[in-house]
Amino acid sequence: AANLVAQTPPMGWNSWNHFHCQINETMIRETADALVSSGLAQLGYKYVNIDDCWGAYDRDIKGNLVANKSTFPSGIKSLADYVHSKGLKLGIYADSGYRTCSGRMPGSLGLEEQDATTFASWGIDYLKYDNCYNDDTRPTTRYLAMSRALKKTKRPIFFSMCEWGDMRPALWGSKLANSWRTTDDISDSWESMLKIADLNEVYADYAKPGGWNDPDMLEVGNGGMKHNEYVVHFSIWAISKAPLLLGCDIRYLSNETMQIISNKEVIAVNQDKLGIQAKKIRMEGEREIWAGPLSENKKVVLFVNRKTWGSPLTAHWDDIGFNKNSVVVEARDVWEHRTLERRFQGNLTAYVDPHSSKMYVLTPIF
Ligand code: DGJ
Repeated sequence: AANLVAQTPPMGWNSWNHFHCQINETMIRETADALVSSGLAQLGYKYVNIDDCWGAYDRDIKGNLVANKSTFPSGIKSLADYVHSKGLKLGIYADSGYRTCSGRMPGSLGLEEQDATTFASWGIDYLKYDNCYNDDTRPTTRYLAMSRALKKTKRPIFFSMCEWGDMRPALWGSKLANSWRTTDDISDSWESMLKIADLNEVYADYAKPGGWNDPDMLEVGNGGMKHNEYVVHFSIWAISKAPLLLGCDIRYLSNETMQIISNKEVIAVNQDKLGIQAKKIRMEGEREIWAGPLSENKKVVLFVNRKTWGSPLTAHWDDIGFNKNSVVVEARDVWEHRTLERRFQGNLTAYVDPHSSKMYVLTPIF
């Protein structure tokens, strides 16, 4: 990437999935408060990201972007100061065309330097840069302009390219940005989540420290999936080194949601310093085994059962990348927080409930 941020995938929250355009400065402050008081900030969720609809319909007399006066009366700089005072970071949203996707704010096309300067002066730490109402020039040109403009500000700003995967941004994104979308928008359903997971998996080889595939933000806690389905969602995003951007209302978190998003062992897999995205290593119809390397020769394995009935699945060392004859592993079930007593050689079998997953960290012991 063009900067040194994002050696591990970013973690935080974004307003879009739950609130869409229904945002204002009070709820952004309350969200920052809730990140800290819930303990989520301590676990790594540091970015408070404002999506579309924060700005006035028009630029000001000097041509600068300005906050919407009725919903963000104190302005973005004061919000950044508040968020920073809590030890968090503030993210904002802009668009590489003439208007943002909602149509409610101006885009940054042609004014990249002016807007990047504005964002830096406000103390912005993360920019999500969308793709609507563009002039049909190549996204490489439009996104490069903002990438350069951000770099010129000298402020380390995470650059999130929101080209929706049409131009396969994974293939060219790492020189410009810290993350790039691989898919169109997620919605809060089991089918959408799996479709997005599949589309993102194809680009696994392009993820590395500093630049990550972005299969869109989390829907965990928004109510459209069962608990076990949200566990699958969070597990796939974690092993895929996806940005962990919460998309629910974290001011009112249920214990069930909190239990998923606060799982330290699963977060540690996402934040592992090796930064290698897991892949599907075996598919048996709608039953899949995903795996990937972690630091210290460990591996993460995820069994995913998309079927509506349960069955056992087996991961073979051959597929995972362990030597099949010699390596004996200790298996840690990171959702049950339990190290299995048995040691495994050659393979590991687990029973997987319908629409569920089993996730293990495997440590070679000899
Ligand atoms: C399209 C993006 O993909 C979404 O994540 C969101 O930012 C909306 N635009 C906002 O209009």
